[in-house]
Amino acid sequence: MKTYYLNNAATTWPKPECVADAMRDFLIKGGANSSRGTSSERDMGTMNLILDCRMKLAEFFGGYEDFNPLLVTFTSNITEALNIVLRGFLKPGMSVITSSMEHNAVMRPLRALEQKGINVEVLRADSEGALNPSGLEKLLSEKKFNLMVFASASNVCGTVQPLKEIAEICKKNNLPLVLDTAQTAGLIEHNASELGLAALCFTGHKGLMGPQGTGGIVWQPDFAARVEPIMTGGTGSYSHLEYQPDDMPDKFESGTPNLPGIAGLNAALTWLKDTGIKNIAQKENELGRYFLERLKNFDEVILTGRKEMKDRVSVFSFNVKNIDNGILADELSLRGFETRPGLHCAPSAHKTLGTFPQGALRVSPGYFNTFEEIDKFMEELKAAF
Ligand SMILES: Cc1ncc(COP(=O)(O)O)c(C=O)c1O
Repeated sequence: MKTYYLNNAATTWPKPECVADAMRDFLIKGGANSSRGTSSERDMGTMNLILDCRMKLAEFFGGYEDFNPLLVTFTSNITEALNIVLRGFLKPGMSVITSSMEHNAVMRPLRALEQKGINVEVLRADSEGALNPSGLEKLLSEKKFNLMVFASASNVCGTVQPLKEIAEICKKNNLPLVLDTAQTAGLIEHNASELGLAALCFTGHKGLMGPQGTGGIVWQPDFAARVEPIMTGGTGSYSHLEYQPDDMPDKFESGTPNLPGIAGLNAALTWLKDTGIKNIAQKENELGRYFLERLKNFDEVILTGRKEMKDRVSVFSFNVKNIDNGILADELSLRGFETRPGLHCAPSAHKTLGTFPQGALRVSPGYFNTFEEIDKFMEELKAAF
């Protein structure tokens, strides 16, 4: 049976072919560990690959100190990146603000930290999932905070947050801001140094088009100096020391990195640059607009979040009257459509949108989908209920 992938918010698929080619090449022709050999050609090949990828990421995300590659940390996903930042920075007695639209990659570390004496304040978004900058200003005028963390766009309903306004408010209040770019990196340009972010966290396998098992952090240097590593170990450097080095990037990178993953991500970043994230965003936007127009033809559909493409990405969650979204997802999958039902690791977001505990069916077209596939989806959706 032909299948149609409409679950790009979970992970983008297919990947550009160059990604798999680069991973294969690394494993077959390269394959040396990083900083744990000599200056052989294969060892240097790995060092060059890592540096090249760090440089691309620093430039891609507008890193500090003229895109200093040493201020980029590799992790295995954005969940690890967020844990490194939140658990490494927040100490008992500190206060952190987040939004009610967060994925559990933010919520769970914060709730765990709350049990250790960190005060967690949740700023409630409106019924379309958007944060109100004046609500943040009010909160900051009433109380002192040490950190703010939130996602640039919702993984449930696709609402894009007013990032520039929020970053401006944080700057004015001297509040370090940590950004979860999981749903916008590769679609919206984020410039960490212009926005004044303390840390920009990213995952490699969604809009960046890289393989699973990749992600990282772009740091503001003074903030990085204030964060304690949550993991320590071998870095291939300072081998005479039994203590973790403070130097970047070693401070946050213990153990052998995901080198085939970095090779894939590196190729994906070249593909993104050649294709142009504006072109990718435009295609997804057009597909999204078409999807919304067609969905409006169904009286039985209750869409969460924004009803137009303004300030949103093409991530759509909806319920169909009188049918459970899990059953609907199964019906659609029998017809070849891959979607995601349920709560999308974001119970707080669903509570904000009024879709807790039942959740919703999430459909997220990506760059490689077509208008014909959306037509076919609508036909099958109609047939499924
Ligand atoms: C907004 C958001 N944050 C964090 C994550 C976690 O991503 P990963 O599983 O790559 O760590 C996701 C994944 O869906 C997400 O959508």
